[in-house]
Amino acid sequence: MTGLVLKDIRKAYGQVKVLHGIDLEIKEGEFVVFVGPSGCGKSTLLRMIAGLEDITSGEMYIDGQLVNDVPPSKRGIAMVFQSYALYPHMTVYDNMAFGMRIAGESKEEIDRRVKSAAGILQLEPYLDRLPKALSGGQRQRVAIGRAICRNPKVFLFDEPLSNLDAALRVATRIEIAKLNEQMADTTMIYVTHDQVEAMTLADRIVVLSAGKIEQVGPPLELYERPANLFVARFIGSPAMNIMPVTVMGTGDTTRIKLKDGSEVTMDLATASSEQGKAGSFGVRPEDLAIAAGEDFLFEGVVEIVEALGEVTLLYVNGPVEEEPIVVKLPGIVDVKKGQTLRFSADRTKLHLFDAAGQTYRR
Ligand SMILES: Nc1ncnc2c1ncn2[C@@H]1O[C@H](COP(=O)(O)OP(=O)(O)OP(=O)(O)O)[C@@H](O)[C@H]1O
Ligand SMILES: [Mg+2]
Repeated sequence: MTGLVLKDIRKAYGQVKVLHGIDLEIKEGEFVVFVGPSGCGKSTLLRMIAGLEDITSGEMYIDGQLVNDVPPSKRGIAMVFQSYALYPHMTVYDNMAFGMRIAGESKEEIDRRVKSAAGILQLEPYLDRLPKALSGGQRQRVAIGRAICRNPKVFLFDEPLSNLDAALRVATRIEIAKLNEQMADTTMIYVTHDQVEAMTLADRIVVLSAGKIEQVGPPLELYERPANLFVARFIGSPAMNIMPVTVMGTGDTTRIKLKDGSEVTMDLATASSEQGKAGSFGVRPEDLAIAAGEDFLFEGVVEIVEALGEVTLLYVNGPVEEEPIVVKLPGIVDVKKGQTLRFSADRTKLHLFDAAGQTYRR
């Protein structure tokens, strides 16, 4: 059974078009993450799924039922926002129980669900406290607990961890991963700007840009085989290095020429009609290494060294003067600013895009 189906969903606020036709199927129990630049429409789409925003056109189905005109309370959905919005004068217990009391659940059922949610989220010691006596992470867990108590079919999260400090983000992210395991039948849709959250939590990531879907797929598929330049640049941090190139030789392997005149052979087939065309060449910072032998991809002067301990980032003045090439080397590396170095990359890790930004498939 399908959890959620979106068919050509569009949204406009008056003349302002925000979503331009979203087609997406989400399976029951799936964990889907929406990512994309600020303003691309992630929250709008989530709020439309929740029923908090009207659907301008298109069809939305939850559990096979058309829900375009079904009010939020009847959709079996719970949403957790970035600001947790707890009732300040109510205890943790009452915050979680509130929705069920309004819905007229029995005292016993309310108690069972609150205790169960508190157990999952390790909130038992805090049930009698007021929100002001909790840390940010604990408050966000109460907000999640309140949503769990509603026993939703679909769980929506809009950047739930972005107000937390780095350590709490990691801890709460792991709580959410566990929650997803415990609520295996519950469909979860999660909006984030955080690469690590997207990569680690998602069964599939949906990359949005300017109100359109760019690509949908499992995290590593998006990382290894981005459909286009937008996804290639968006997934991965630091972002993929992109350089303009010309296709010099086609066939089973493709030869390209970089701006500085150097040529690269790629394990990638192209049709002869591609000969002479302009495109873009991509290589991820972590796929570059200091060249051991004579076989190298490019040579450049190191302009900046960022030693982070676990990795060292080099900003190298490479074949494209305008933009430095970023190189991510594991561990601590003895490289100095001003040094000229040669860099190589595994041929199978190179990416090539056509003039329209679409990936040449292997
Ligand atoms: N009520 C509204 N009237 C007009 N435009 C709106 C309204 N609400 C949102 N928008 C516009 O819709 C677009 C999408 O907004 P949305 O909040 O969905 O973006 P987002 O992807 O969630 O961004 P962020 O990552 O910053 O949260 C934005 O350009 C925004 O200005
Ligand atoms: Mg948003």
